[in-house]
Amino acid sequence: MDIALAARRRHSCKAFDGERKIPPELFGQLRELLRWSPSSTNSQPWHFVIAATPGGKARVAEAATGLFAYNAPKILDASHVVVLCARRDMEPEYLDALLAQEQADGRFDSEEARTRQAQVRGFYVGHQRKAGTLDAWMQKQVYLALGGLLLGAGALDIDACPMEGFDAALLDETLGLAAQGFAAQVIVALGYRSAGDFNAAAPKSRLPEAALFTDI
Ligand SMILES: Cc1cc2nc3c(=O)[nH]c(=O)nc-3n(C[C@H](O)[C@H](O)[C@H](O)COP(=O)(O)O)c2cc1C
Repeated sequence: MDIALAARRRHSCKAFDGERKIPPELFGQLRELLRWSPSSTNSQPWHFVIAATPGGKARVAEAATGLFAYNAPKILDASHVVVLCARRDMEPEYLDALLAQEQADGRFDSEEARTRQAQVRGFYVGHQRKAGTLDAWMQKQVYLALGGLLLGAGALDIDACPMEGFDAALLDETLGLAAQGFAAQVIVALGYRSAGDFNAAAPKSRLPEAALFTDI
C-alpha cells in the first residue's frame, strides 16, 4: 500500500450519504487502530464513544449547536461517529490498572522490570502534573489516536470528517462523560461521501515542503 497516496487522497468529508454504511469488518479495523494507538509511557489516557445507531448519533449531534450547527448533518448522516475523549486525571488506581494489564500481557520478565515501568510512568505523570500540563499531555495522546484513525480511514477508502466544532461541555453532560472522568476532545464522522460533499472535488492545500522540513 502506498501510504503517502492514502494521505494525499483523503479529505475532510463535508456531506455523508446517509444510506451507506461501513461494513462491520472494516469498522472493526478502525476500532483496532484506536485500541493499538501508541501513547507516552503507554498511558492510554483515552476513551472512545462510538455511535452507530440513529439514536446514538442524535445524542452526539445535540452538541453541534449554535455556531457549530453546521456540523450536525455530518454527525447524523455518517455511518459511524467516534467521540475521542481524554481522561480528566491519572489517579493511582488507573496507573495500577495499566501496570496490571502490562503484567498480564507479559511485558515484565522480572519484578525489577515491573517496578521500573511503574517508576518511569509515575515520573512522567508527576512531572506533567507539577508543570500544570497533565491535561494537555493526555490530550496530545488522544490526538495521536485521531491521526491514526484519519489515515487508516483514508487507506480503507472510508471518508471521514474530524470535528472540533461542538460544545464539549454539553457533550460531556449528554453522554455522561464528565461523571466517568472523561472529557470529549474531537468527534470523527465516518462513512461515505454524498453528492453534496463539495470538498471531495476541491484541490487539497498544504504549505510547500520547503517551509515544513529542515534536512540536516
Ligand atoms: C482537529 C481538527 C478539527 C477539525 N474541525 C472541523 C470541524 O469542526 N468541521 C469541519 O467541517 N472540519 C473540521 N476539520 C477539518 C479541517 O478543516 C481539514 O482537516 C483541513 O482543512 C485540511 O483538509 P483535509 O482534511 O481535507 O486534508 C478539522 C480538522 C482537524 C484535524
